[in-house]
This record gives sequence, structure tokens and C-alpha cells, in this order.
Amino acid sequence: MAKKVETIGVLTSGGDAPGMNPAIRAVVRKALSQGIRVKGIYQGYKGLLNEEIEELNARSVSDTISKGGTILYTARCSEFRTKEGQDEGAEICRKHGIDGLVVIGGDGSFKGAQQLAARGINTIGVPGTIDLDIACTDYTIGFDTAVNTAMDAIDKVRDTSTSHERCSIIEVMGRNAGYIALWCGIANGAEDILLPEQYDYDEQILINNIINNRKRGKKHHIIINAEGIGHSTSMARRIEAATGLETRATILGHLQRGGSPTCRDRVYGSMMGAMAADLLIAGKTNRVVAYKNGEYVDYDIDEALAMQKELPEYMVRVAKAMQI
Ligand code: ADP
Ligand code: F6P
Repeated sequence: MAKKVETIGVLTSGGDAPGMNPAIRAVVRKALSQGIRVKGIYQGYKGLLNEEIEELNARSVSDTISKGGTILYTARCSEFRTKEGQDEGAEICRKHGIDGLVVIGGDGSFKGAQQLAARGINTIGVPGTIDLDIACTDYTIGFDTAVNTAMDAIDKVRDTSTSHERCSIIEVMGRNAGYIALWCGIANGAEDILLPEQYDYDEQILINNIINNRKRGKKHHIIINAEGIGHSTSMARRIEAATGLETRATILGHLQRGGSPTCRDRVYGSMMGAMAADLLIAGKTNRVVAYKNGEYVDYDIDEALAMQKELPEYMVRVAKAMQI
């Protein structure tokens, strides 16, 4: 028979993402509504090892659904990558009576969760990252807010780029994945989109595109460059030298991670957080919540981490067709 969970811990780990607060709130309230105690662990695995743990009640998460960032703070913790750190983490959970844990974060954070599950702490992962780079799920909490923030910023750069008839390279986040770049590339009508999954580093193609588009009467040339390719500033210098067109680089950076979560991130955060609490209450462990083909589902963490994700090929082709 499944072990009954009495106290659920919740932490956020890795890069913060808008929508983490709705997810935390949902874990807390779903668990409390079923008579389960909840403890918040501050600063991810680092805070777990430092025992920054506090009991949460329904009011602890009042007025948080619209807030960006994470009220539990987050961190990266190299100590937790070691066996000693993981043993200590599991011991600390036991010491605080935490027999179920929700880890909100990305793939790295799920690897930590996997280790705690292997040490007898029932653990569920919730996908929280702006990067959309978790293979088992079609959606990760934070992506929608981040792409909308980036889209608004790129619209503004486009205004000034058109006024000066310039080429603008705008670098967006995404770690090694090109989802933010692809979505913004379509939403902002970019002339070129550089995706780490496909980029061949042939700048001559870019230079030819810029020259040809100018001949076709385009007043600006917007290049969305993904962080995984990077080097936007030096790329701008080389393009300016080769085309004779004034070229500027803008690196959007961490502004993409902030701000009040969109409706989508509040709802997905709430649904995924609540589902994580339900899975723990049902005695499940070593699972990750996902949204796949229009449904909320859960996968074994080991299976989820072994899955591969590819950019949607048709979307890439449509984006290219829009660039003429
Ligand atoms: P994300 O969760 O967004 O992918 P990171 O890759 O930075 O972010 O991982 C967040 C944290 O998860 C790390 O700082 C570390 O504490 C933990 N972590 C990452 N990889 C592992 C691993 N292989 N084993 C145990 N813990 C890990
Ligand atoms: O994973 C989210 C993310 O914002 C990535 O897009 C980016 O590569 C990374 O985190 C930046 O991390 P940091 O906040 O440590 O600079």
C-alpha cells in the first residue's frame, strides 16, 4: 500500500520563472485543503541544506498569484550534485518531517529530485523554466510571460531600427534551446532567426539576406539571435563592416525572467502545482507533471529526463516563409 504523505515540502530551483508563485500557492492550498501540512524550503537545494524551512499556511501565499519571481527564492547549488549533499538533503527532509516534496524547476532540478526520491523522499517535479526546453512537456511555466515580455521589447527596438534604417540583432534567452527565439521571430516578424539547434555559423548567408532585403525596400533588418549562439555584439560589428549598414546589438537578458505572470502562466502554474500535491497525496514518487497533447499528465522522472525534444519543424518553415 502507498505510504501516506503527512507533510509536503515545496521548493523552487534553478532560474526563476513567472508562474512559480501560482504553482507554490497551488501546492500549498491543494495540500492544506486535504489536511496535509506544507513546509516551504527557501533558496532551492541550497536552502534545504541550510535548513531554511518554514511552515506555510493558506495566508502565507495570499496576494502572490500576480507576482513575478518566486516567494521561496531560488538558487543553484553545486553541493547538491554530490552524493554527500543528496544524503544530507534527504536526512534534513526526514528531520523536518517532510515525507513528500515538490520541486519546481528545470531538468537540472529534476535530477536533484530523482536523487531525493531514490533516498525515500516522495518527490514530484513541476516544469518551471522560461526556456520551454523540458522534453516530456509541451509547456513549461514561465514561457508565455517571457515571450510576451521579449515580444514587447523587440517591438520597441524595431521602431528605432526602422527610423534609422538599421540592422538590429536582438539576443533572447533560452540557454541551449531556440524556443523563445523562434516564437519571438514569428511574433515580431523578424527577417532572420538564429536557432542553436540549426545554426551553421555561415554569416555570409545573413549578410546576403540583409543586402537583398534592402534592395527589396525593407527599412530595417531584425535578427533574433538565441542566447545559445550568443556573440551578438561581435556579430553586429562584422555585419556592419560587411554590409555598410549601421548595425546594433541588444541583449534582452534578465528582463525576460521578470514581471507579473500572464493568465496562461497563472493557470498552468496553478494546475501543475495542484496536480503535484495530488500525486504526492496519492502516494506517487519520482514523477514529473507535464502538459502533453492538451492534457495534464505525469511521467516517471527517469523516463522524462531521457526524452529528447526537437524544434517543431513546420513552425520553423513557416517562420522562414514569413521572411520574404
Ligand atoms: P534547471 O533546474 O533550471 O535546469 P540547473 O541546471 O541550474 O537549473 O539546476 C538547478 C539545481 O539543480 C542545481 O544548482 C543543482 O543544485 C541541482 N542539480 C542539477 N543537476 C543535478 C544533478 N545531476 N544531480 C543533483 N542535483 C542537480
Ligand atoms: O533557464 C533560464 C535561464 O534564464 C536561461 O534562459 C539562461 O541561460 C539562464 O537561465 C541564465 O541564468 P542566470 O540567471 O544564472 O544568469
